[in-house]
Amino acid sequence: MRPFIIDFFFFRKGEIMNAFDEYTNKFDMNDNKLSYKYYHSYRVMNNMIVLAKNLNLSYCDIKLAKCIGLLHDIGRFEQYKRYHSFNDKLLDHGDYGSKIIKEKNILTKFDIKEKDYEIVYKTIRNHNKYEIEPNLTKRELLFAKMIRDADKIDILYALNNSEIKSIIYEDDSDIRDEIKQQFFNHTLVKRDNKITTNENIVVIFSFVYDLNFNLSLDLIKYKQYYEKIYERLIDKDKFKIYIDYVKQYIDERID
Ligand SMILES: [Fe+2]
Repeated sequence: MRPFIIDFFFFRKGEIMNAFDEYTNKFDMNDNKLSYKYYHSYRVMNNMIVLAKNLNLSYCDIKLAKCIGLLHDIGRFEQYKRYHSFNDKLLDHGDYGSKIIKEKNILTKFDIKEKDYEIVYKTIRNHNKYEIEPNLTKRELLFAKMIRDADKIDILYALNNSEIKSIIYEDDSDIRDEIKQQFFNHTLVKRDNKITTNENIVVIFSFVYDLNFNLSLDLIKYKQYYEKIYERLIDKDKFKIYIDYVKQYIDERID
């Protein structure tokens, strides 16, 4: 396994924190769903720093990565205030987040170069889409891939941490063949209208196929995130084929 840095300097207050805090303070942070998104934003920021450092990015690009990580879910706050739901069919929080960052000139409060503003708008717009839009520049694509990995790594972290997300929902629902097919074809499973509770667990297992950097896979393997999620499941027989496949896939990719 290649060496990688995992240095979390958690919640150190600095100038970039304040612009985000200033915006989010206007929302009801006593609501668990919103406070979850607030802390998730900081954790994703930390993941972005870890990725940026391990990818040997410059000091300026680490600051850019940090900014994208912290702001990536900024659209969630207004989305929840308006709809009391995180359903992107009601309001796409990637598109909306990108729009408000632009309209409210939030980036002027961050120590990043003006020529990089477009990268922030585009990566945030793309972070929650099924796939990244075509025709991004090489540099835009790099940061878009980073934020998608950083976000997923935190979702897996949260599912491992009972204090953050205590329940992984399971029931007797079937897993449709088309869902199995996507999973075993190494494809991020698409959530359609008919998605069942158990299929949602397969979606989580399929995140592994949408991780862009081997570094992310190293981190997930090192932390044993998938093994620990599997340990938390009740119907182990049902999900054994998925966890075995995921473990094998990770080993093959990082070998
Ligand atoms: Fe998001």
